[in-house]
Amino acid sequence: MKKRELFPIINALEEVTGKNKIMMHMPGHKGGKGFSGSFGDNLLRYDLTELQGLDNLHRPSGVIGMSMDACAKAFGAVKSFFLLNGSTSGIHAMLLSGFKQGDRVLVSRNCHYSVINGLILFEIQPVFVMPRYNEDWQLAVPAEAEDWERALHENPDVKGAIVTSPDYYGLCAPISELSGIMHASGKLLLVDEAHGAHFAFSQRFPPTAISLGADMAVQSFHKTLPALTQAAVLHIGSRRVNIAAVQKAVSMLTTTSPSYMIMASIEYACGLAGTEGEKRYGRLLERLELMKRGLSGMDKLRLVPDELDGFKRDPSRIVVNTANSDISGFDLARILSSEYGIYPEMADEYNVVFITAVSDGDREIDALQRSLAEINGKAGRGNRGMRNEKLLYAGECIMPDRWSYLHGGVKIPLVESEGFRSAGIVTPYPPGIPVLCPGEAISKEHIDCLRRLYHAGAEIHGLTDGARTKDEKTLKDMLVSVLPR
Ligand SMILES: Cc1ncc(COP(=O)(O)O)c(C=O)c1O
Repeated sequence: MKKRELFPIINALEEVTGKNKIMMHMPGHKGGKGFSGSFGDNLLRYDLTELQGLDNLHRPSGVIGMSMDACAKAFGAVKSFFLLNGSTSGIHAMLLSGFKQGDRVLVSRNCHYSVINGLILFEIQPVFVMPRYNEDWQLAVPAEAEDWERALHENPDVKGAIVTSPDYYGLCAPISELSGIMHASGKLLLVDEAHGAHFAFSQRFPPTAISLGADMAVQSFHKTLPALTQAAVLHIGSRRVNIAAVQKAVSMLTTTSPSYMIMASIEYACGLAGTEGEKRYGRLLERLELMKRGLSGMDKLRLVPDELDGFKRDPSRIVVNTANSDISGFDLARILSSEYGIYPEMADEYNVVFITAVSDGDREIDALQRSLAEINGKAGRGNRGMRNEKLLYAGECIMPDRWSYLHGGVKIPLVESEGFRSAGIVTPYPPGIPVLCPGEAISKEHIDCLRRLYHAGAEIHGLTDGARTKDEKTLKDMLVSVLPR
C-alpha cells in the first residue's frame, strides 16, 4: 500500500482545511476562530480521563456537576445534562425516559431522522403532524397550533409530542401554544431544538423552547455556538419530568469514556455566550441586517424573511431562495463553493442555508453579500416557484418493530415500489428529513419527489445503487428496501 493510501482521512482534511474558504456551515466554532487563543491551544491537553480533581459524567459530584448547574442556570432550566453524541443522543434519551414501549406520540413529520431512529429503537409509534407549505418560497413551514390540537383531539391516547423548533431553515414552531395544549391534557412536550442553542444569549433571537414551557429540549451546541462537534445539551424545563429517569437514560446512551474536550467546549460556549452574547450577537445581527438591506433589490435570488407566515425565524440563519431564477439551490451551492470559496451548510431544490456565528465578521459577510449580488446579476429569470413540488408527502405509517427494521426488508426498484411499505429511512442528507419513514406506504408522489432529488444531484441516504458500473447509473437502478407484503 502506498503511504498516501494509509491516511485517506487525514489527507482529505489537509486538503479541505488548506483552502482559504469561507465556512458558512457547522461547527459553530468555524475552524477554531470562535475559540480564544488559549482555549484553542489547550484543547488537546484537556483530553484527559477521570483523574483526581476532575469528575465523572456518569456520577457528577464535582466540576462536571458544577458546570452543568451553571449551564442550567444560563438556560433557565431545572436541570441540564451534557451530551457527547450530539442532539441525537439527547433525542433518544428524551424518548427513552419520557415514554413506554408501545406508546403513541405526536411527531412533526419534518423531524430529523434521529427522531425516527429513536422511535424504532424504543418501539414508540408516531402520529405524524404535517408541516404546512409555503408555495411561493417552496418551503415547509411549521404546523399551526390548531393542527396539533386536532391531532391530539383525534388521538387522545397519545402520551406527548416531539416537535422540531427551529427547523433547518430557522423557522420556529408555536411552542408556547403547544405547551398550553399538551399540558392541559397532561401530556409531555419535548422539543428538538438542535438548531437553536444560541437563542438564550440574545433578546434579538426567538425565545428558547424551555422559556416557552417545553418539558425537555435538546440543543446541538456544536451547530451554532463555539463548541466541538458532538457537543450538545439536554435541558429539563419542568417538574413533570422524572429527572432520575432522564439521568439514567443519558447515562445508558453515553460512552464510559466521556471527552473532557467536548465537555470543556460546552462550558466554554455557555460561559462566553452568557457573558458576551448580547454584545457579540448584536454586532453579528447588525452586520447581517446591513447585508439583508443591501440585497433586498435582488430580483432572482431572494432572502427568506425573518418572519414567514407568522412564524418567527432565526435572523442569524441566512436562507437564499432560488425559485425565481433558473438555477436550483443545489446549483447555487455548487457555484458558491467552486467559484467563490463560500461553503454553505446545505441546499435543497429551491434554497441554500448558511449558518453564521459570532466569529463571522466583515470578511465573511462582505464576501457572501458580494457573491450573492454577482450571481443574482448573472442568473437567468425563472419561475420555479408556485409549483406543487413538496419535499414531504404523508403516507399512512405503521413503524415496524426493531427486529423487522434491522433484519426485514427486500430491495426492489424504487420506480416499481408504489403501494409497498418502506422498510427503511430514505432521506436527502443534509437536511436528514426523511422522504420515506420505515413502515410508510410509498406513493407516486414519494417516488416523483425522490426522482427530482436524484436528478438534481442530492445525496440520498437509504437508496442503494443496483447499477453494474457508475457510468450506466440511472434512476431505474436505484433500489429501495420494502417490507414484504
Ligand atoms: C433538526 C435536527 N435535529 C437533530 C439533529 C441531530 O443533531 P446532532 O448532529 O447534534 O446529533 C440534526 C442534525 O442535523 C437536526 O438537523
